[in-house]
Formats: sequence, C-alpha cells, structure tokens
Amino acid sequence: MSAFAFTEENRKKLEALIRRYPEGRAASAATGAMYLAAEQEGCVSDAALEAISEILSVPYSRLWELRSFYGAFRDKPAGKVHVSFCRGICCGMKKADGVRDACLAYMNIRTGETRADGLFSAEEKDCLGACSDAPAMLVNGTLYGRLTPESAKEILKKYEAEAAC
Ligand code: FES
Repeated sequence: MSAFAFTEENRKKLEALIRRYPEGRAASAATGAMYLAAEQEGCVSDAALEAISEILSVPYSRLWELRSFYGAFRDKPAGKVHVSFCRGICCGMKKADGVRDACLAYMNIRTGETRADGLFSAEEKDCLGACSDAPAMLVNGTLYGRLTPESAKEILKKYEAEAAC
C-alpha cells in the first residue's frame, strides 16, 4: 500500500481518463495520472509512482523512466522560487555557467535541489528557446535574458523579497 493516495476528485478524473482507452490499455493513462499527482502534491513522488503502478498495473520502473524523461515531472516539490538555468550551446557560449554558479551560490543550493526552507529550487534545461537573448534563465516560468551574474542575482533578490511578503 502506497503512502500516496489520490484525492476523491483526482481519483474520479483518473478513472475517467482510464475509460478513454480500450480495455486492457490503462497503462496509456500513465502520464495523465502523473500529471494529476503533480497537481495534487507539487511533484510526482516515489509514493505517487507506487500508487499509480498499483492502479494502472504498470511496472514502477516504467513510471520512473517516464518521470525522469519528462522535465515537467519532478520527484520533489519545487521551491517558492523555482529557477531553470539553460545549459544549451548558445547560453554556454555567453558564459551561462557564470550566471548559474553565481545564482546557485546566492540560493545556497545545487541544481536539482530544493533549499531546506523551501524558498529556492533549481534545475537545468537543455534550451529555453531564447537563444538570441543568451544567457537566459526562467524564474517561476518568466524568462530573463542577456543576464550577467549580477543582474541574475538582482532578479532572485526581487523574487525572494516578494516571497517573504
Ligand atoms: S541555448 Fe539557452 S536559450 Fe537556447
């Protein structure tokens, strides 16, 4: 028995999703189930994968692969301020690693981590689709480009102040 359980509302949504697929094809609802879990708990935890595995009769390992493949699914909740750094080639040529390192030092975390107080989390993406404005980063889904280590830290300070309100 998993430590995760879908809410009644999400359980009904999942059942409706499963009914969309032919008999015996409940596994096709796996990404939808993971999306519901992410909405419910802010991530797709290992416990959620166990629950989905039981409900859909899909091997846990297959769900784990799906979670690690899709960047939209994280295994831990994001911080209040979630930062996506670009590790694409255009940003790399424009010294994005200096921006990333300065921000990580400011946030006191490494990529893939959420700070213990839940304020900051960070990840790396292959390209944010803003190559002409390299180096770029996303903060809570908002794109910032032509960054320097200093300007990036100022952006984080603004979000930090807003999160404290
Ligand atoms: S390489 Fe960074 S936005 Fe495309």
